Amino acid sequence: MDRYQSFARSGLGRFVVGRLGLPDPYPLRRHSPGKPPLDGPVLLGGGGRSADAAAGVARSMGLDVVTSAADGVKYGALVFDASGIDSVERLRELHGFFHPVIRSLAPCGRVVVLGTPPDQAASQVAQRALEGFTRSVGKELKRGGTAQLVYVAPGGEGAVESTLRFLLSGRSAYVSGQVVRIGPADVEVPGSWDRPLAGKVALVTGAARGIGAAIAEVLGRDGATVVCLDVPAQGDELSAVANRVGGTSLQLDVTAPDAPTRIVEHLVTRHGGVDVVVHNAGITRDRTLGKMDAGRWDAVVAVNLASQERVNEALLAADALRPNGRVVGVSSIAGIAGNVGQTNYATTKAGVIGMVDSLSRRLAGRATVNAVAPGFIETRMTAAVPLVIREAGRRMNSLSQGGLPVDVAETIAWFAHPASAGVTGNVVRVCGQSLLGA
Ligand SMILES: NC(=O)c1ccc[n+]([C@@H]2O[C@H](COP(=O)([O-])OP(=O)(O)OC[C@H]3O[C@@H](n4cnc5c(N)ncnc54)[C@H](O)[C@@H]3O)[C@@H](O)[C@H]2O)c1
Repeated sequence: MDRYQSFARSGLGRFVVGRLGLPDPYPLRRHSPGKPPLDGPVLLGGGGRSADAAAGVARSMGLDVVTSAADGVKYGALVFDASGIDSVERLRELHGFFHPVIRSLAPCGRVVVLGTPPDQAASQVAQRALEGFTRSVGKELKRGGTAQLVYVAPGGEGAVESTLRFLLSGRSAYVSGQVVRIGPADVEVPGSWDRPLAGKVALVTGAARGIGAAIAEVLGRDGATVVCLDVPAQGDELSAVANRVGGTSLQLDVTAPDAPTRIVEHLVTRHGGVDVVVHNAGITRDRTLGKMDAGRWDAVVAVNLASQERVNEALLAADALRPNGRVVGVSSIAGIAGNVGQTNYATTKAGVIGMVDSLSRRLAGRATVNAVAPGFIETRMTAAVPLVIREAGRRMNSLSQGGLPVDVAETIAWFAHPASAGVTGNVVRVCGQSLLGA
C-alpha cells in the first residue's frame, strides 16, 4: 500500500476522503494460491453463443453460477453474454440485466460482457456500442471492481477458458476497461491449470529487476523454465532472479550486434528452442523534442524496439520458436496517449503495437503475438518520476492507485498460457483504466 492509500484506509482518512470526494484506493484482491478466485457467486445473464462456455469455466474454477438474482446476495462477478444482441433496440437488455444488480457486486468484483466482433456481427453498430457501455461501467465501479468486454469470434467459444480464468480472478486486479478479442483456435488444454507452462521454455528480457523480474517469477510459478536475460552490469541481480525461479541467466545487451545470434544459440543448445518470448527490456531517456539529442533518441529506439524486431527475425529464421509459440511485447500507455518529454519512448511503444499487428497476422495459426501496455506501475522507473507527476499518475485511473509489477506479469502469463491460442493481436492495458489515452 502506498502512503496515501494507508491514510485513506485509516479512520480519519476515510472521513476526510469521503467528505472531500478524494480518490479512494481500495486494496486490490490479487491471486493467491488456495484462495477462491472471487468472493461470491457469478450471476450469469444473456443468452448468446458463449454463455454455456462461461458457466462451465466459472464452475470449473470452483465458483457458484446462478442465473437469477436474489435479495441480499453480493456477487463475485456479473457476466452478461451480449453476443446475440443484433439490434440497437436490444441494447436495452444490458440495462435490464445490470441495473438491478450492479450495486450488489462484491468488493473487487468483476463485470464481464461477452460480445461478437463487430465486423462479424448481425449488427455492427450494436456490438460496437458494448465498448462504451463496458468502459463506463469500469469507471463507475468502486472498491476495486473491474469491467471488461470480450469479443468472441464465431467458432471461438471453445477457446475462452484461459481468458475467463484470468478475468474472473485476482490475476486481473489492475486491468479494467479493456476490450479483448478471442478467435477460433485449437486449444492446448494444460495438464494442470496451476502449472500450465510445465515443460515450456520462456525467455524474458530485462529480467534482473522491476516488471521483468516479476514476469520471470510468475512464468516460473506457472511451470516454465525461464531464461532470464539482462545486461552484464545487472549480473548479480539477474543471477538472484534466475536462481529464485529455477531458470538460467543470460547476460547480454539486447542492442549488441551479436545479441540475436547469441540468444538463438543459447535457447537452441541449452533448451532445444523456446515457447514464450517476452520483450520486456526497456529504457527511458526523457527530454522535450527540441532538447533531445540524437543519442537519447537512438538509445531508446535500439533497446525498446529495434532489438525486438531483430530477435524475432533471428528466432524465426532459425525456427527456434516452437509450435503454439507466444511472443509478448511490453508497450506502454505512453505509446497510446503520447507523453510530454517522451517522443522517443512513445514512438517505440507505439511501434510495439505495430509489431503485434503485423507479426500476429504473419504467424497466425503458428504462434500468438500480443502486448501489454502498462500504466503507472510501482517500480524504480516510476519512483524516479518527480513527486507531483508521480502522485497524479498514481491516482488518475479508475482504481486510484498504481499497479504492481505482478499485475503486468499475470497479464503476460495469460497471453503465455497454452490455452490462449485464440488470443492474438491484442494490446491489453494494465493501467487500472487510466484516463490517459482512454
Ligand atoms: N514502470 C512502469 O510504470 C512502466 C509503465 C509502462 C511500461 N513500462 C515498461 O515495462 C518494461 C519494464 O520496466 P521497469 O519499470 O521494470 O524498468 P526497470 O528499469 O526497472 O527494468 C528494466 C530492465 O531492463 C534492463 N535493460 C535495459 N536495457 C537493456 C539492454 N540493452 N539489454 C538487456 N536488458 C536491458 C535493465 O537492466 C533492467 O533490469 C519496460 O519496457 C518499460 O518501458 C513500465
